[in-house]
Amino acid sequence: MRSLRIRGGKPLIGEIRISGAKNAALPVLAATVCFRDVCTIQDCPNLSDVDAAMAILTHLGANCQRSGKTITVDPRPIDRWDIPEALMQQMRGSVFFMGPLMARFGKCCLTQPGGCPLGDRPVNFHLQGLERMGARVRWEGTLCCTGPLSGNDIFLPYPSVGATENLLMAALGAQGEMVIHNAAREPEVVCLCDFLRLGGCRITGDGTSVIRIWQGLPGSAEMTLIPDRMEAATYLCAAAATNGYIRLTNADPAHLQSVIDVLEKAGCRIELEKEAIVLCADGLQSPGMITTGPYPAFPTDAQAPIMAALLRAKGETRIRETVFSQRMHHIPALCAMGGEIAGRGDTAVITGVPRLHGASVTAADLRGAAALVIAALSAEGESEISGLRHLLRGYEDIAGKLTSLGAKLSIG
Ligand code: EPU
Repeated sequence: MRSLRIRGGKPLIGEIRISGAKNAALPVLAATVCFRDVCTIQDCPNLSDVDAAMAILTHLGANCQRSGKTITVDPRPIDRWDIPEALMQQMRGSVFFMGPLMARFGKCCLTQPGGCPLGDRPVNFHLQGLERMGARVRWEGTLCCTGPLSGNDIFLPYPSVGATENLLMAALGAQGEMVIHNAAREPEVVCLCDFLRLGGCRITGDGTSVIRIWQGLPGSAEMTLIPDRMEAATYLCAAAATNGYIRLTNADPAHLQSVIDVLEKAGCRIELEKEAIVLCADGLQSPGMITTGPYPAFPTDAQAPIMAALLRAKGETRIRETVFSQRMHHIPALCAMGGEIAGRGDTAVITGVPRLHGASVTAADLRGAAALVIAALSAEGESEISGLRHLLRGYEDIAGKLTSLGAKLSIG
């Protein structure tokens, strides 16, 4: 799947099931490294990032199998604590192995992780946290960390999702009790803690800014991943952009409140059920200013999709990106499709246009790729989107799901 041709201008109508969350799957798969027995993870999306996590587990020595949407990991044979650069570079989520390796072996050797080009993505909070737990951190061509670790109070300078997840996993192997202050509150952090608790760990406060973790490696666990709130946000934006009518099942409205608020302000009618969201749109207006931020603020991962959805909204919309320094690579491609967007520092100013037109565009990152798909679906004529490897990292069966909603597309 190298390029996607989309004939736009058709409303998306129908029902789809949201897959398990990529950003929950990656830390949960990494966490299996510090379990003492077999783990089973249900509703694992079929994505290249998940394949990359399985490749790392296999490299470390785990026995890792997928059967449909279920992944089983037997971590008992793991006997390595190094991850080569080629595996680390495949995704940002490779950094999640640092914490579990430290918990299990008291040492790890890795390199910088890969991931979408969103500006500087250092791992200094992860490393400073480990140092505060007593680790020795050295760059010797590769990054080598050695313990022993002991629990401590850690104050994160920013509620980083990855640093919170890594440090709480490392804490399971640290002596005593650890407290993470200014922790990330994202649902994926809670999902990881639920998984660890199923294995017998003692962790409290996840979902708030202060998380407490007590020493003790988990035993075994079986868990179903939470639904992917970013996949859900993307399809809501796509339905809104095309004046569609969509019902998402296996979606958790509580995880999407900030996105739902913006779409409602833009004129969408939204009904919430316990595990489903229904959206109906018939012409959008500007919802005003949108500012991304850590959960529960508007998610940075939905910034590109909402921008694409609002290209034809009446009035002027301002979108300010505060999480990543360079996460607006999609603007030139959206403009090539007729969008009117002015980038001013960290803010994009969108002036609604009556119509978009098809164009040949290239995606630069995962959520930017989703934005191009949304714009193409709402544009008149045909678009060709290349750079699709990005989409495959984060959207399970996107072509099948869009086709079932009536989109006209073909894969090149
Ligand atoms: N940061 C630092 N130092 C650190 C860690 C983070 O300066 O040590 C900065 C980052 O550069 C960024 C901000 O803190 O400016 C937030 O980064 P965070 O650590 O929270 O992000 P992440 O863990 O690298 C995860 C998701 C991202 C999502 C962000 C924010 C995974 C695999 N990735 O990344 O998802 O955007 O949290 O919610 O869970 C995506 O799915 O498209 C995606 C990029």
